[in-house]
Amino acid sequence: MRVGVLTGGGDCPGLNAVIRAVVRRALVEPDGAVIGFRHGWAGVLHGDLVELDAQNTAGILHRGGTILGTTRTNPYKDGDGTALVREVLDRERIDALIPIGGEDTLGVASRLAADGVKIVGVPKTIDNDLAGTDVTFGFHTAVQIATDAIDRLHTTAESHNRVIVVEVMGREAGWIAAYSGLAGGADVILVPERPFDIDEVCERIKRRHASGRTFSIVVVSEGAMPRDGSGITTASAKTDAFGHARLGGIAVELEREIEDRTGFETRMTILGHVQRGGTPTAYDRVLATRFGVGAIEAADAGRWGTMVSLRGTDIVLVDLAEAVAEPKLLEDALYDTAEVFFG
Ligand code: F6P
Repeated sequence: MRVGVLTGGGDCPGLNAVIRAVVRRALVEPDGAVIGFRHGWAGVLHGDLVELDAQNTAGILHRGGTILGTTRTNPYKDGDGTALVREVLDRERIDALIPIGGEDTLGVASRLAADGVKIVGVPKTIDNDLAGTDVTFGFHTAVQIATDAIDRLHTTAESHNRVIVVEVMGREAGWIAAYSGLAGGADVILVPERPFDIDEVCERIKRRHASGRTFSIVVVSEGAMPRDGSGITTASAKTDAFGHARLGGIAVELEREIEDRTGFETRMTILGHVQRGGTPTAYDRVLATRFGVGAIEAADAGRWGTMVSLRGTDIVLVDLAEAVAEPKLLEDALYDTAEVFFG
């Protein structure tokens, strides 16, 4: 089988581990071949591709980013995406596609699969907000990076008797904030699933300081929102090809509000793309590798329109359309546990 592979959407630690696993498992079959499309769906639309083999995918297991490059291209934005993709697949004699991506890339994959294109999806996102899988690779690495940063911010907050607001990624779901906040001992965690009241946040901080603590750590998801729509928002007017506003900067507003309302000196740090860069953790390398091998095995078995997924400790196949239908939001129980430690 001649399989095409691509990486779309935001990059994510572990993408190269999937690519390597796809290639290594595909080439076990004597007639196996893997074609890598560059820059996500853009590479498919423009026929920008490279044949992948054991040599040109060697030494990439531990490397962050993606050797194929990535974009947020939407083949359906300006026309009949299915026809455009099919034309290139036919011309290049590609039997099946393995897109590695989040809700947007796999949303495109799901439409193509519904139109009869042979597809097996691989879920990735540091945000961990894809339904259909317990965990996406990249999440574990992002949480570790954020936790390391919170540990460092703790010592400087303590030394200066300051409140520090740490902004992490998480557009629709607060997984990174909840996990890194729990791991880093945050005093307040703000997530998109639980719109916040700024007065309540400040009360918690004041209560904590009144009980003798001299500093506080607030972890906030970029997509967190105030309950009353009080204008604390960071969505820019710019949108990508899938209509998402660019987020980032809520910590700037929180820094000002918290300092003004509590009188405590406050600083903010936005971790941003640091969370997506660099070496994947061992956990993410293993998960990504299992997903890559699982995707080729699904293709060999003709399980089109599915997505590889982690359920418990098993790699299973789930329906791609169902997996991308709704985002996977933070579980209440996890946030309730984190709340036990709030100021
Ligand atoms: O991959 C998802 C994500 O990390 C979101 O949390 C964030 O809003 C977005 O990517 C930012 O992506 P970029 O700035 O690279 O387009």
